[in-house]
Amino acid sequence: DDSNPPFYKRFVGGKINASHNCLDRHVEAGRGERVALHWRGEEGEERDITYAELLAEVKCFASALKEQGVCKGDVVGIYLPMIPEVVVAMLACARIGAPHNVVFGGFSAEAVRERMEFSEAKALITVDGAARKGKTAPVKDRVDEVMGELSTLETIVVVRSKGTPCEMKAGRDVYYDEILAAAERRGGSDCPAEPLDAEHPLYILYTSGSTAKPKGILHTTGGYLTGVSATHRYVFDLKPETDVYWCAADVGWVTGHSYIVYGPLANGATSVMWEGAPDYPNKGVWWGLIERYKVSILYCAPTAIRACIKWGAQWPEQHDLSSLRLLGSVGEPINPKAWLWYHKVIGGERCPIVDTWWQTETGAIMITPLPGITATKPGSATRPFPGVQAKVLSESSGEPVSEGQGLLVLTHPWPSMLRTLYKEEDRFIATYFERFGNETYLVGDAARVDSDGYIWVIGRIDDVVNVSGHRLSTAEVESAIVAHPDVAEAAVIGQHDEQSGQAIVAFVTLQGDLQGDEAEIESIREGVAERIGKFARPKRIIWADDLPKTRSGKIMRRLLRDIAEGRALGDVTTLRDPAVMGELEGRVKELQAQES
Ligand code: PRX
Repeated sequence: DDSNPPFYKRFVGGKINASHNCLDRHVEAGRGERVALHWRGEEGEERDITYAELLAEVKCFASALKEQGVCKGDVVGIYLPMIPEVVVAMLACARIGAPHNVVFGGFSAEAVRERMEFSEAKALITVDGAARKGKTAPVKDRVDEVMGELSTLETIVVVRSKGTPCEMKAGRDVYYDEILAAAERRGGSDCPAEPLDAEHPLYILYTSGSTAKPKGILHTTGGYLTGVSATHRYVFDLKPETDVYWCAADVGWVTGHSYIVYGPLANGATSVMWEGAPDYPNKGVWWGLIERYKVSILYCAPTAIRACIKWGAQWPEQHDLSSLRLLGSVGEPINPKAWLWYHKVIGGERCPIVDTWWQTETGAIMITPLPGITATKPGSATRPFPGVQAKVLSESSGEPVSEGQGLLVLTHPWPSMLRTLYKEEDRFIATYFERFGNETYLVGDAARVDSDGYIWVIGRIDDVVNVSGHRLSTAEVESAIVAHPDVAEAAVIGQHDEQSGQAIVAFVTLQGDLQGDEAEIESIREGVAERIGKFARPKRIIWADDLPKTRSGKIMRRLLRDIAEGRALGDVTTLRDPAVMGELEGRVKELQAQES
């Protein structure tokens, strides 16, 4: 239904259930014994979970959630590491029509609390402790420290994963295994999938925008499943009967939602799920997994590939990678050097590479080669997926650019399109449709079209940075820094970085006469880790007596970016005090000299 752009609908009047499509359908068709997930824990633990087993656990947990008072339409938060229960939790929510709100395990408890508050979550599913490179983080304890005052949150379900001791608050907290067993005793193993409208909300996923407040991207059911299952099948040339597919992202990001959970399971694929990091217990762990499970399709981020290049080809060379037949890349532009290494060292020069461009908002892959069909060029995501209409518009005239650079837009609705920003409809329109009207979705990326019509995505045009494939807003990091009692003011920018794509650099003015030193840097970085997560800590902090501001007091981040990248400074005449630039430039050069 396209009668009211930009509020598009799909399959109006149709009924569907995502959990039924991902599980029951396969079991009913006699595929129950197929492995859905080869799960592998950090210490080498293994669990192979078939479609029939996954369905049985999802049914029981869905029934247990209902027993806890979770109803159709209630938002359920999920803050879990890469363990099978995260997939069970998502599908159990989908089964009863409770939209889930998954928060990436690398976010701090404070960031979780904020996302639970914005979405008015009724329940939260979390874990006692999470493994990270041989250590265990006490997740539930951290959640308890911040969650107390949330009135809407009635239940916290705790998965006992690592046996980390934690307090359980009577009347609010329950153990996952206990409510699962109780549901089974009550006959919950029969919990049917609720027939839902095609436009019933499947999930909310918070992502970063131009301001400090994250945006709640809302995806619904029928169109979303259409988008993820079609792209998963065609972009990865999936043969569900024979392939072993591995998406090495985290479920907490959209890549995990669409290409670990909904796409592969809707297609009846067999996937690998890895709990840990790429360098623990050693830097060859990924390649060992590919050999062990005979992975045929690997989908990961350029950042991981660049890390592997740094660690050296000796790690993959110790393993038999001949099962691989297709490689995918996602999350940031892949530089040609990384592309070629991926192609040669990992793909043995026989595997096509699909460089897939998309976003949390698009739900599914939008611009990508189709293996065996599209001739690739290292660094380009090539052309739109069939049915997708992408254009590059001139920044000055708004007219389509036939060759050259401009703003990337999507000019036709697509099935897995975000439906709105949760509880922020005005912001939805202002962010994506103000510039070119209600029928032209503004992506937020700059891109270049070449003479063959291939699209080269350059990067964000807003104040969003992409650090190791993690999307962050500079405003979010600034607000975490200025919350530090010693800080008067801060400006954050993304700086080009060989390893992580972009790195966070913060220009900080301290209160009064305070002098910045190493201890202060650590304390500010720690503050950011507490408020957002460790991955958001600035790589560099540059002390500034003053920041470049216009006469009306607006910080000119463009000039800070110029300084950080060592570019000639743009126009400084509009600055209130042009002298601050010279001083900052000196500081940056000093720091760069120290680092090299
Ligand atoms: O800037 C683009 C970049 O990642 C942004 C979307 O981030 P997020 O919503 O977190 O989703 C990441 C996973 C889909 C985009 O606006 N991006 C994503 N994929 C690519 C990319 N940039 C260049 N090439 C890609 N293949």
